Amino acid sequence: MKTAGVYLQLLAAAFAERLVFAETISEINGNRYLSPYNGKNVTNVNGLITAKGPNGIWIRSTTPDKDDRTSESVYVFDRNFGKTLSVGDIIQLNGTVTEYRSSKAYVYLTEIINPKLVKKVSSGSAATPLVIGKDTINPPTKAFSALDNGDVFGVPNNVSLISVTNPTLIPRNYGMDFWESLSGELVTVKGAHALTTPNNYGDTWVVGDWKVTGLNGRGGLTTVDKDANPEAIIIGSPLDGSKNPAVTRVGDTLGDITGVVTYAFGYYSILPLTALNIVKGVEPALPPPTRLVSDGDCGGITVGSYNVENLWAGSDHLVNISDHIVHYLRSPNLVFVQEIQDDNGETNDAVVSANLTLTTLTSAISSIGGPEYEFAEIDPVDDKNGGAPGGNIRTAYLYDPKILQLRKPDFGSSTEANEVLPGPELKYNPGLIDPQNPAWTASRKPLVAAFETLDGKNSFFTVNVHFGSKGGSSSIEGDARPPVNGGVDDRQEQMQLTAILAEDKKAKIVVAGDFNEFAFVQPLENFEDVSNLRDLDEAANIPELERYTYLFDMNSQELDHMYISQALKPKAQYEHVHINTWVTKAQQISDHDPSVAKFNICKK
Ligand SMILES: *[C@@H]1O[C@H](CO)[C@@H](O)[C@H](O)[C@H]1NC(C)=O
Ligand SMILES: *[C@@H]1O[C@H](CO)[C@@H](O)[C@H](O)[C@H]1NC(C)=O
Ligand SMILES: *[C@@H]1O[C@H](CO)[C@@H](O)[C@H](O)[C@H]1NC(C)=O
Ligand SMILES: *[C@@H]1O[C@H](CO)[C@@H](O)[C@H](O)[C@H]1NC(C)=O
Ligand SMILES: *[C@@H]1O[C@H](CO)[C@@H](O)[C@H](O)[C@H]1NC(C)=O
Repeated sequence: MKTAGVYLQLLAAAFAERLVFAETISEINGNRYLSPYNGKNVTNVNGLITAKGPNGIWIRSTTPDKDDRTSESVYVFDRNFGKTLSVGDIIQLNGTVTEYRSSKAYVYLTEIINPKLVKKVSSGSAATPLVIGKDTINPPTKAFSALDNGDVFGVPNNVSLISVTNPTLIPRNYGMDFWESLSGELVTVKGAHALTTPNNYGDTWVVGDWKVTGLNGRGGLTTVDKDANPEAIIIGSPLDGSKNPAVTRVGDTLGDITGVVTYAFGYYSILPLTALNIVKGVEPALPPPTRLVSDGDCGGITVGSYNVENLWAGSDHLVNISDHIVHYLRSPNLVFVQEIQDDNGETNDAVVSANLTLTTLTSAISSIGGPEYEFAEIDPVDDKNGGAPGGNIRTAYLYDPKILQLRKPDFGSSTEANEVLPGPELKYNPGLIDPQNPAWTASRKPLVAAFETLDGKNSFFTVNVHFGSKGGSSSIEGDARPPVNGGVDDRQEQMQLTAILAEDKKAKIVVAGDFNEFAFVQPLENFEDVSNLRDLDEAANIPELERYTYLFDMNSQELDHMYISQALKPKAQYEHVHINTWVTKAQQISDHDPSVAKFNICKK
């Protein structure tokens, strides 16, 4: 039993420590994004070294609090400080607290700089990682930040900034708050699997064995309305200087990953102690070809759509695209293609013709047993369509002349607006939608056409779109909340213009292509309302989580869609062919998956 005298001595010692301002790590981190000590010197901070990196060390408090919001670990940024220290050492240090970010679009990372070793207290303690979902709560699965007002894709964007609002963390509700509350912590992700192919630095998004939402059949997480998967985390560069594999695919099993939680380049991430290891590769390696095959008559016409990623006559991937069209899309009667470049690709000269590009593609297709496709497109005005400089990308149709023909062909020009005439018939077939409208500045003008069976009896209208890109977006885990959805206003106007074509309610219409937007984000929701067209994913009952054509951040997501009029709905079928999202990065032929649909276009 301690005497009163001993208590007094202890109290005095504690008092003395307070007098020299011994801060704990949880006090330094605080329960918000920004440290209450930002810019201040802290003294006699006690911590266990849990990890060492090339530019600093991570320390964990020896006097933790009971608050889930305050991280018990912090990064000590200094190239030399850790040189004579080891993982397992308990140290006391002085230093300056700072908030660091490499871009003003990012969230700040709390760290200690100018560290001075007061003393090494001991060595040889275990640096035991926290197992996520076991030693911590589960990561939230839907919302990123309280500042998103319930929808990370909501408009208007960038209504508030985390760095200004500095909200109190609610780790149970918000994914960013959860990861922020573990900033600097040594953690283990148990039973991890990959959600994406690696980026150019080898960084790969993963989830562990915790509860997730949005899991698709391949093992990716699909973005759905108001759920963009904050339970995922990106694994960055290994601390031991090894390299993450470049061949990781969506769904590959990665086993357990241990590393420190940090924030860098716009995302919460884990820097693993050593490189990721593919424990088991997902199977099968490739998706099956589409089941949708043409009936060869109006009762079952197949329609494909494919963003062929900057394709020109000299593209290395042209032969692979033709292989996909013949063997995976099974030669649809009509193919909507996007990102067809002019005949000399990104050579920035006056060439706008894509005749050579398209004849090279159609010859490649017929040479491997595909149809002798004909094509229809309208050359753009030079340098007015956006995309890679000099490439003059545009949309185009390939059609099998044994099954379909253009109805009363009369090609419009790059500047003339198409019109719907009584009938309905098109003024130009094909023609562009209001190409002079400023909504299309630096963007592709939708290509409208009418096709019919060779007897002229059964016809339908098509609109091939490639709306403005999401360039200029801010990170989904960045400072601006909700994040900036680049080009959203342009797409809003573009969809408004495109919708007007659907005035005749009985007409058979397919609007397809790269919308660069999700079905549940305002521009497309408005498009559906105004146009009276229906999302074919809905009409054909594609399971919600299997609606993806593209990988971005942690998400499998759908930028490519088909919308159809009511008259095409009966028995409409649809498939996304995941030939590019399932493979390794090096095996991707385009950044988008193609899709195929099948319709009855017979006149009633
Ligand atoms: C904080 O510490 C640094 C040395 O690391 C010193 O230069 C600076 O004056 C200190 N600032 C304050 C406010 O004490
Ligand atoms: C740490 O800070 C305390 C309080 O200011 C000071 O007495 C001590 O000398 C500092 N130690 C080092 C190594 O800078
Ligand atoms: C397109 O190329 C083909 C074959 O190279 C040629 O026969 C045809 O005349 C060209 N068409 C145009 C419009 O240049
Ligand atoms: C968000 O808005 C702020 C002004 O409130 C601006 O400084 C910042 O650049 C914007 N962020 C992005 C990513 O556009
Ligand atoms: C593209 O096709 C060529 C020729 O068949 C083949 O050698 C190459 O490996 C393919 N490229 C990819 C990325 O699969």
